[in-house]
Amino acid sequence: DRVRRGSLARTWFRPVRPNRRDAVVTASGFTSSVVIRWGDRVLPGAPAFDARRQTVAAARRQFGFNCDYVGLVPLRERTDEALLVVNHEYTNDELMFPPGIYTDDEKRALSMYNHGMSVVRVRQGLVPGSWKQVTPLRRAPENRRINVETEFRLTGPVAGDPRVRTSADPRGRTILGTLNNCSGGTTPWGTVLSGEENINQYFDAGDGVPEEYAEEYARYGITGEGKGWSSVDPRFDLSREPHEPHRFGWVVEVDPSNPSSVPRKHSMLGRFKHEGANIIIARNGRAVAYLGDDERGEYLYKFVSRDRVDRRPTRAARRHNLGLLGSGTLHVARLRGDGLDDDRYDGTGRWIPLTSDRRSFVAGMSVADVLLFTRLAADRVGATRMDRPEDVEPNPVNGRIYAALTNNSERGTTFPVDEANPRGTSMVRAEPGAPLTPAAGNRHGYVLELVEDRGRHTGLAFGWNLMLVCGDPASAETWFGGFDKRLVSPISCPDNVAFDSSGNLWVSTDGNALGSNDGIFRVPTSGLERGRVAQFLTVPPGAEACGPLVADGDRSLFFAVQHPGEVTGATFEEPASTWPHTDDFPRPSVCVAHRDR
Ligand code: FEO
Ligand code: CA
Ligand code: CA
Ligand code: CA
Repeated sequence: DRVRRGSLARTWFRPVRPNRRDAVVTASGFTSSVVIRWGDRVLPGAPAFDARRQTVAAARRQFGFNCDYVGLVPLRERTDEALLVVNHEYTNDELMFPPGIYTDDEKRALSMYNHGMSVVRVRQGLVPGSWKQVTPLRRAPENRRINVETEFRLTGPVAGDPRVRTSADPRGRTILGTLNNCSGGTTPWGTVLSGEENINQYFDAGDGVPEEYAEEYARYGITGEGKGWSSVDPRFDLSREPHEPHRFGWVVEVDPSNPSSVPRKHSMLGRFKHEGANIIIARNGRAVAYLGDDERGEYLYKFVSRDRVDRRPTRAARRHNLGLLGSGTLHVARLRGDGLDDDRYDGTGRWIPLTSDRRSFVAGMSVADVLLFTRLAADRVGATRMDRPEDVEPNPVNGRIYAALTNNSERGTTFPVDEANPRGTSMVRAEPGAPLTPAAGNRHGYVLELVEDRGRHTGLAFGWNLMLVCGDPASAETWFGGFDKRLVSPISCPDNVAFDSSGNLWVSTDGNALGSNDGIFRVPTSGLERGRVAQFLTVPPGAEACGPLVADGDRSLFFAVQHPGEVTGATFEEPASTWPHTDDFPRPSVCVAHRDR
């Protein structure tokens, strides 16, 4: 009964109202606490964080900036502790560095080392559902900071390809670092997948952008307008290392239980602006990963492994499973509407095979061509251009796939509307209480529900519907799965998704176009309550809400508060937020929400 009382899946709560408070505001009856902040110690020997005395040596041992994906991997030996795995997507230099202390190159180096991932051992707190970092750090032997110098092994058909060879890595198999890790997923075999997203922004032109890859660079937004990192590390100079960008934009796999393991980049899952990767094991035992390419007009993808998962609890089985993402078939989605006479945005679709590890299905492109330049391959087969596909995740209770399609300001102009992307104008709001006014494009996004034919995740046919057409329920353009719009919370810009053990969808948002802070929502996916969007929490101004992750028997909601205070014109000295209010500047942090006692 205690578990049930604190259950995030079952407890009714009064939705949090839209607001702009500089706080994490949870539904009444719940509370939240910070688990770990930017700069907190991860590895022994890390100094206490001091924004005015940052060093690379310290950053290599401290929690990085802009926490995004949050995974929790159980430990074999005990259930009251677990491994928290977190992405550090990017940095906000204007919010990180007090003026007049650091040179430009010092700032660049500190920013580089604030990227990557962290593994942090955590334990249950006294209040059910609460968690805190395990200290002293010698009790946390798995803790790890993966950063810009961590060695990764490239797997799959692109490993060794001439186009991934550099002067530091003439074999094209060993890559230093992971960048712009956005969302991710935990695998059934206890590892974490993480998506390298906007990797185009890290490469400088140097003596000029090489012509050789003009089309490929352009399709990935690689312009040579970087962050000046090449003055700290020459591999970020395109004129010297034209292949370095080809070594980013992959899904990476980290085994957090083994801190000395070499993490991998899986070329078989394609190269694009990966949001994340979430796996379900099909009835025939194959691992199926659902993937999104987060940019306006990009695609939804699916990978099906060649081999079957080995469920035995043996070392050999684990070794086998760690190889599953090395071979299989990569597909891209084509969606067709069935017309609007049924008053529903819905239809059918096909997964179009792009390549297997052995054979390309795209005319004129080899296996390695398709995997290195997946966007160009998908363009050729008539895939459907979507509105920023972000987190794409199978619901373990009903087996359906839910995709957050965040927004697309150019839908209706650059990208024509279709039934799967139906909105070319939106009703937006400048601040809570301000009037709704029209804006071009799809400003609030959708949640797409995809149903594999006969529940076969390895198949090629599916059905789909837009379960949520987000926005203010008062505007006619919105749809909440058929639920009474007078009883739902406004929601804008769905970004990451998760599920509790009852199959409710949890959605976090990024970029609220209704003028209030972003947050996290619970949405039942079945029964009479299907589509009843209820806001569970809001995050501080300028922040996006990331994660989320329902854990610990539905008692804990882990989430990341990314870039609090990222508001136009805000600086370290004049911040738009000081959350979590431990300093006079904001600190991105991972939190956990739970019953308040
Ligand atoms: Fe990092 Fe797709 O947002
Ligand atoms: Ca229809
Ligand atoms: Ca995101
Ligand atoms: Ca997710």
